[in-house]
Amino acid sequence: MAGRIAPKIGRHSLFGSRSAFAVRRHSSNRLSVRSNLYVSMTDRRQCYAVGNDAQKFKLGPRIRSVQGTGALPRKADHMRAVGLMVHGGPEVLEVVDLPEVHAGPGQVRVRVYAAAVNPTDTMARNGSRAEQQKVDPPPYVPGMDIAGIVDEVGDDVSTGVKVGDAVMAMVVPRASHGAYREQIVLEARAVVPAPVGTNHVEACTLPMNGLTARLSLDLLGLSPSQTLAVTGAAGAYGGYVIQLAKTEGLTVIADASEADEDLVTSLGADIVVRRGDDVAARIREHFPDGVDGLADGAVQNELVIPAVRDGGTFTAVRGFEGEPQRDIKFKPTWVRTYDCEFEKLNRLRQLVESNAITLRVADTYPPEQSSETHRRLEAGGTRGRFVITF
Ligand SMILES: NC(=O)c1ccc[n+]([C@@H]2O[C@H](COP(=O)([O-])OP(=O)(O)OC[C@H]3O[C@@H](n4cnc5c(N)ncnc54)[C@H](OP(=O)(O)O)[C@@H]3O)[C@@H](O)[C@H]2O)c1
Repeated sequence: MAGRIAPKIGRHSLFGSRSAFAVRRHSSNRLSVRSNLYVSMTDRRQCYAVGNDAQKFKLGPRIRSVQGTGALPRKADHMRAVGLMVHGGPEVLEVVDLPEVHAGPGQVRVRVYAAAVNPTDTMARNGSRAEQQKVDPPPYVPGMDIAGIVDEVGDDVSTGVKVGDAVMAMVVPRASHGAYREQIVLEARAVVPAPVGTNHVEACTLPMNGLTARLSLDLLGLSPSQTLAVTGAAGAYGGYVIQLAKTEGLTVIADASEADEDLVTSLGADIVVRRGDDVAARIREHFPDGVDGLADGAVQNELVIPAVRDGGTFTAVRGFEGEPQRDIKFKPTWVRTYDCEFEKLNRLRQLVESNAITLRVADTYPPEQSSETHRRLEAGGTRGRFVITF
């Protein structure tokens, strides 16, 4: 079906979209969306999925083994998701119904029990990505992290995943194909066993930020005993960068507010300096020539370039590349390039199981209260991830 526009069901004129779909608002104010639209995403099929709301897990069962947790019964033909029909503040997030799809060749369907809420999701919501989004019809379903149970495996899947396995995955969102949904179809290589000993809520906090941290370290290309500075160290990305860097023998200097100092130390930072606009100077107090690499999770951009030594490497998480200076290499981190990197995510799973990586959950919310997760995330100060539970 890839690349084929299926028969039209209806048209939603609000967005002036060319796409075929029908939107219905129920008396409960819930939206249901019908669409037979398939969009070519390179060789990937755009997925609209069905789930069931008969089973409601708060945290999901703690995983003792990565297999044998059993597929769950489902109601036919629709699922709940959290999406938006118009861009705006957190209040635009609402529960929508989406139709079912099935795993095609090389794909896996997951009954999603938990979806982490990340800063990038707020940009999918607030219109910052409107230009990219408008090629598809709403609802736009944000989210890049899921955990749940495999309930369908397509032909030609060779990763070993089976129906009933507890899994986690990074989702590259497009249109209604985002993580905030009860069920999703993904390329099999994106879907990895969840860490043994975790529940769905914990497991869903790993894939996207863990892979981002992995990519940043790969781009920095440091050797054991070289120095790495991390800003935004108390955050999800910063925390994973520190913990991964320590598994690789790097010396890590990280920033923290006074309140976060114990947390950042417990994550493994060798040196903790006070966060702030002058953090580069504080880093230079410890490393007068500058550090070999810097991962800028706080998005301080120019302010932290002085922390990097001549010829060192700077990786940014929002695309920043500094003006050429002192032979510093600027290598932006874009996690989408690690989509379907099965082995890399699987390695992160093992590091959780060996307690080298810590999963942090701030709070859980039902889909109906998803707006609150964005409100609290944007207020700042959250440590650990908010998670929407289906
Ligand atoms: N490019 C990619 O592929 C990619 C992938 C993942 C993440 N990201 C981006 O990476 C960034 C970090 O993500 P995250 O999930 O780790 O976010 P997070 O959990 O909210 O962590 C960000 C941390 O930075 C701190 N911070 C904010 N402003 C600061 C400043 N001026 N000085 C020092 N610390 C500051 C925050 O503290 P407060 O809470 O106190 O403000 C928080 O501890 C986000 O911008 C995210 O969008 C990009």
